[in-house]
Amino acid sequence: MIPEVIKPVPVRPKKNALHFYKSVNVESAIESLKAENHVIIADYYSSGLLLLKELKKHLNKSLPNMSFLEQREYRAEYQKLSNLILMEIKNHSLAVKKAPAIGWLEKLYQESEPFYLSLPQIQGLNSAWQWYIKGVSIPVLRNKIHPFYGVYFPTRFDHLIVFDNWLKRYNGPKKSAMDIGIGSGVLSLQMMKYGFQKVYGTDVNQNAIIGLKEFMGETKLSRKIELDHGNLFGKWDKETELIVFNPPWLPKSHDLNRLDEAMYYHETLFDEFFSAAKERLLPDGRIVLLFSNLAQITGAAKEHPIERELANGGRYKLENYYKKRVKSASKKTKRNQSWRAKEEVELWELSMVG
Ligand SMILES: C[S@@+](CC[C@H](N)C(=O)[O-])C[C@H]1O[C@@H](n2cnc3c(N)ncnc32)[C@H](O)[C@@H]1O
Repeated sequence: MIPEVIKPVPVRPKKNALHFYKSVNVESAIESLKAENHVIIADYYSSGLLLLKELKKHLNKSLPNMSFLEQREYRAEYQKLSNLILMEIKNHSLAVKKAPAIGWLEKLYQESEPFYLSLPQIQGLNSAWQWYIKGVSIPVLRNKIHPFYGVYFPTRFDHLIVFDNWLKRYNGPKKSAMDIGIGSGVLSLQMMKYGFQKVYGTDVNQNAIIGLKEFMGETKLSRKIELDHGNLFGKWDKETELIVFNPPWLPKSHDLNRLDEAMYYHETLFDEFFSAAKERLLPDGRIVLLFSNLAQITGAAKEHPIERELANGGRYKLENYYKKRVKSASKKTKRNQSWRAKEEVELWELSMVG
């Protein structure tokens, strides 16, 4: 059974919450946030955006925001204070003027009573709704994907291009494959494109499973891609010729929520994956891992988990390795992201030893 959908949890405003209107002094609202009080936006949606902008300006004055680690610290403070800014939701809509219509407020919430969400939660719901309804074009796929709320989807595509080239060259059997951490289903859809008959997908994030089930509906695809909500291989214990995993690329440095789990890995994730994969891979089968040097070039990790497995695990050998330089970030960015110039995505094709 799939647990209930993940959604932003309503916030109960503190008694001394300040009501913010465009006419209210912004400084006093920021002082209120710093004193850990809630600020409720009472007139226009844009008043909330104005307060966020002023909060950023304020933090920029007091916190450096240059290195990768400083950026993390700045973001943590911004996150803490901005989450104290609230808006009311009434009848599945935002109760402020000139607010965007956000379909998730109806799709995800049954509440009939008014409730409050923080502005960053609302912004997250709003942009997720735009992605969901407009869809996201993926260069290696014919149709757009429609990512469900709270599910990772790719915004850069270099690794997908590398995987596509690998699939083009792959001439092994295509009866079945497993897609670990299926997310919005992009890798499975690529495998379908290249003629795989069946894909068994999993994800620890239930929204990924709920979203893909909704996306596939009763179509032919829903019989070709079978899903399970669970850790690593979930309930799938059959043998297969191909196991694909695009894991998180950075080691965990804080408690993880479900969306973070698309980005950050637990210390034991790779060892558990390699051990479970060995039980399920057919003798001539392949594991394909998509990875990146992001953790190494930003100093977030000293070890590369796949290199470590190959050096010490004794379970797999390297069949092929491909890498691709990631297109550099926009020149407009103010932060120091010089490490981006060195970013490369990697495809590791492994087979079993012995
Ligand atoms: C980087 S995203 C990749 C998603 C998708 N495969 C793609 O390539 O677009 C990693 C995915 O793995 C999932 N994930 C992380 N740890 C997992 C685990 N232990 N078991 C199953 N899925 C996991 C995350 O929820 C996320 O959807």
